[in-house]
Amino acid sequence: MSFEFPKTFLWGGAVAANQVEGSHVSDGKGLSTSDVQPFGAMGELVDRQEGDFNIKDTAIDFYRRYEDDIELFAEMGFTCLRISIAWSRIYPNGDDAEPNEAGLAFYDKVFNKLQEKNITPLVTLSHYEMPLNLAKQYQGWASRDVIECFTRYAKTVFERFGDRVKHWLTFNEINVTLHEPFTGSGLPRDCSEQTRYQAIHHQLVASAKAVKLCHDIIPDGKIGNMILGAMMYPRTCEPNDVMQTLTQNREWLMFGDVQTRGYYPSYMTRKFKELGVELNITADDTEALKETIDFISFSYYMTGCASADPAEMANASGNMLNMINNPYLQASEWGWQIDPVGLRYLLNFLWDRYQKPLFIVENGLGAKDVVSDDGKIHDEYRMAYLNDHLFQVGEAIQDGVEVLGYTSWGPIDLVSASTAQLSKRYGFIYVDRDDQGNGTLERKRKESFFWYQAVIQSRGSALKAPTKTKSE
Ligand code: BG6
Repeated sequence: MSFEFPKTFLWGGAVAANQVEGSHVSDGKGLSTSDVQPFGAMGELVDRQEGDFNIKDTAIDFYRRYEDDIELFAEMGFTCLRISIAWSRIYPNGDDAEPNEAGLAFYDKVFNKLQEKNITPLVTLSHYEMPLNLAKQYQGWASRDVIECFTRYAKTVFERFGDRVKHWLTFNEINVTLHEPFTGSGLPRDCSEQTRYQAIHHQLVASAKAVKLCHDIIPDGKIGNMILGAMMYPRTCEPNDVMQTLTQNREWLMFGDVQTRGYYPSYMTRKFKELGVELNITADDTEALKETIDFISFSYYMTGCASADPAEMANASGNMLNMINNPYLQASEWGWQIDPVGLRYLLNFLWDRYQKPLFIVENGLGAKDVVSDDGKIHDEYRMAYLNDHLFQVGEAIQDGVEVLGYTSWGPIDLVSASTAQLSKRYGFIYVDRDDQGNGTLERKRKESFFWYQAVIQSRGSALKAPTKTKSE
């Protein structure tokens, strides 16, 4: 590719506290909802007993190894690292009157290290976790009281870290409550639509309040939302399939619509009516929602198809989503359909709809890497996947889309959110640990480490016109 990405484009990787840190009860941290999901977001919850194994208790030990890991990110040339703050390190029970100083001190050290390496932090306030106490005592986000707990937490971290952290995100994949209500909102899986949408409403209000706090406390800061960008294509061009596709895309677009426009889109009126949902929206909520985000961020792993035919939809799958396979696409070992062009399409689609800067804050390939006899990890499939996606980001920029940056998911191997596997590896850096927790936790540079380093160094001009992926 002869095209060079803009000089201001941020290059890096993204991780989440509960998938890398470990030390799940160290230094005063409280249990979080993630700590009772040993089988991942798609598995069953457990009531923790002393001695129960949860791979996330240690994860990849980033809590103690963050300095070395950040050195490796810097060596790759990262200009940005997306991390999340574990809410329960700061407010162990969520409703505490005072924050936990040891938790704040940990992130101080992380941000200082990033500053030393000239890496811009991009920080998610809540990434698939909340203090467990809030889920147990308050019914999670179903309770309006949780808005106040969250804004207290947001205010605390903005005041503490605002001098070093200028880029923030509110809720990771805020649309996930539609698919995994416990992961998204601390709600039981079988909760009613009324409860689910009321919880979502509370999150949208909390997000808007956090945006306002960020604007007030960090005047030179920028704060965005984060959506699971699950673009659907019509399974066929039959008009009912096309209409069904619009309906399904609106399930996730609704979040961006509220967060960029400051009010619910009109199509939700009919939807709520049909679902029998009557939201409790106060005058204060309506006012709060008016504070809109500065940029839009999203994760992008796959696309899928929608159909108006119930028989077709019965075969749908795809991560936590309801998608029909696209016969033109190949899939990863976990069945996630690989669609680099879909990323260009999504970027253009969001830009056309919102005219707000976009940030791709997750994208990557989960694969079973093998350490070869030569001691190296030859992950050419990962390089091909990322090359092809980044190439399409370059195309979108040339289409005129304003793209702030790209943080690949899991630049270092980490615990899978959906399945809690470590063997589902995304990293440029290999971590010696298996799904049972065996291994030294030693870090090793994969072949893709040097590839990404060259891509960053060339500002994207080292990217090649699309190649084939592992599954082909
Ligand atoms: C996103 C989440 O859904 O996908 C991440 O924000 C997650 O937390 C990532 O890890 C990849 O999914 P998985 O299930 O392969 O870890």
